[in-house]
Amino acid sequence: GAPVQVDISAMQPGEKITVEWRGKPVWIIRRTPEQLATLAKVEGELADPKSDRKAYPTPAYAKNQHRSIKPEFFVGVGICSHLGCSPSDKFQAGPQPSLPDNWAGGFLCPCHGSTFDLAGRVFKNKPAPDNLEVPPHMYLSDTTLLIG
Ligand code: FES
Repeated sequence: GAPVQVDISAMQPGEKITVEWRGKPVWIIRRTPEQLATLAKVEGELADPKSDRKAYPTPAYAKNQHRSIKPEFFVGVGICSHLGCSPSDKFQAGPQPSLPDNWAGGFLCPCHGSTFDLAGRVFKNKPAPDNLEVPPHMYLSDTTLLIG
């Protein structure tokens, strides 16, 4: 499939858009400072906090805590690494049905309950074997992304 160019200039903090790349949904999320602050807090609860697992290798430029080139913008494939369902947004922190009381925000897979943080990192003891895939991507300008 061809690379997909995305204009992110109008994205507001906390906003998520989905674009299609190679038939897959790719999420682009402009994370707020509060959302970014949750990433350090959940490290101890994650299965692969440093994105070392290889089922969906994380590009070198996203092998960091925020799993992205620019900390604010997450770019990830919205498909669960278990059996391919699409996880739901659970951005809001705090108690929510079927989530731990101390939930800091992220994604919940409706199929078998895998949970991911706001960088797509899977929590421990969940069926999903890996973090969400970060697709190859780059910035053509400050506000133009090229995915693929
Ligand atoms: Fe997501 Fe099974 S497909 S937990």
